[in-house]
Amino acid sequence: MIHVETYERYWILLSLAALVIFAIAIGVSSFMFGIQVPSPEALVNPNTVAKTGNFANPGLRQLAPNKYEAYIRAQASPWKFYPDKLEVPVGSTVTFYLTSADVQHGFKLEGTNINVMVLPGQVTKMTATFNQKGTFPYVCTEYCGVGHQNMFGTLVVK
Ligand code: CUA
Repeated sequence: MIHVETYERYWILLSLAALVIFAIAIGVSSFMFGIQVPSPEALVNPNTVAKTGNFANPGLRQLAPNKYEAYIRAQASPWKFYPDKLEVPVGSTVTFYLTSADVQHGFKLEGTNINVMVLPGQVTKMTATFNQKGTFPYVCTEYCGVGHQNMFGTLVVK
């Protein structure tokens, strides 16, 4: 039996307790609050995404009163989000579907916890509810070329 100093034993126990607490925190956040690592909602062909399907005709679609889905395509050259303007009534829940037609982009929407990568070939899905009126800018957060700073848009809640 190895002799362990009293204080060292306390530190070992404290470290083990910290691990258990962290594991519980992960369990609570994922199972009780539904916080998950984003995973691709679907796979798409980046070469055709601007020509066919929902991302070829991006924008808002109303599913029910105060319930929308927004298809947004990020694209370089010209560096732009399609669309770069969205408008929903206050109290709306919007599910965002994002993809890129070329390189890696980012999508951060002010006033929400949406801050995701937008990758060619993958669809990223995030949902947010807008209970306050205002203008919420969205920007590209991944450097994507010389026009990166031009990639922004606004969501207006009225
Ligand atoms: Cu798109 Cu930076």
